[in-house]
Amino acid sequence: MKVIVLDNYDEVSKEAARLVEEKILADDELVLGLATGSTPLGLYENLIKGHKTRGISFKNVKTINLDEYLGLDNNHPASYHAFMFETFFKHIDIELTNTYIPDGVPKSAEEECACYEGMIDHVGPVNLQLLGIGTNGHIGFNEPGTDPNSLTHVVELKESTRENNAHFFQSIDEVPKHAITIGIQSILKSEQIILLASGKNKANAVKTLLESKEKVNPDFPASYLWTHDDVTIIVDKDAYSIV
Ligand code: PGA
Repeated sequence: MKVIVLDNYDEVSKEAARLVEEKILADDELVLGLATGSTPLGLYENLIKGHKTRGISFKNVKTINLDEYLGLDNNHPASYHAFMFETFFKHIDIELTNTYIPDGVPKSAEEECACYEGMIDHVGPVNLQLLGIGTNGHIGFNEPGTDPNSLTHVVELKESTRENNAHFFQSIDEVPKHAITIGIQSILKSEQIILLASGKNKANAVKTLLESKEKVNPDFPASYLWTHDDVTIIVDKDAYSIV
């Protein structure tokens, strides 16, 4: 696991964008694994800048998102479909048919999970997976206790996750209690993984992650990243402050 510590959130976002651009320039048919939440916002801003000012093209890039809330349709402003469209996709030249996000209102959640995992295997492998990390160590919505062999599945969100994400909703009561997420095994199928973390509220999670090499365990799902041989963690000084 490679660790890059930078001064602040801006530097983390710029470095992550630089690494993504480098991959796209090397392979314009890149398959990118994308994350939502507050952390990747700066990365997406920088990628949009790269598209508008340096002509970086996403025309042939495919994207596979980690997760979606169950019960929110694509038009709900807090759905990850809306998040991705508003913060990234509508600003670049990507074909929306090349973007994949689990359906938040499927007829059968189980079928949607199987179908999404099949898509990952068909469209993938993901060449570069971008991740954030939850304060409880979740990756995607793989909450503590998740089976390390998990593929795409339905999860019940922990209260801490619902509280952390409540700012995207009018109130915490609106935050769905379930989501569809790709599994830990699905994430580990990616060829390369970059995890971003910024701010003091992630310091504990970053410390636990970096100390978990000999203690890989389901109580801290991000610890399974130690079983992958190409993971880079890009953090700012605040997130690294107690390591
Ligand atoms: P955040 O979420 O980027 O909004 O902090 C990260 C995560 O939950 O994976």
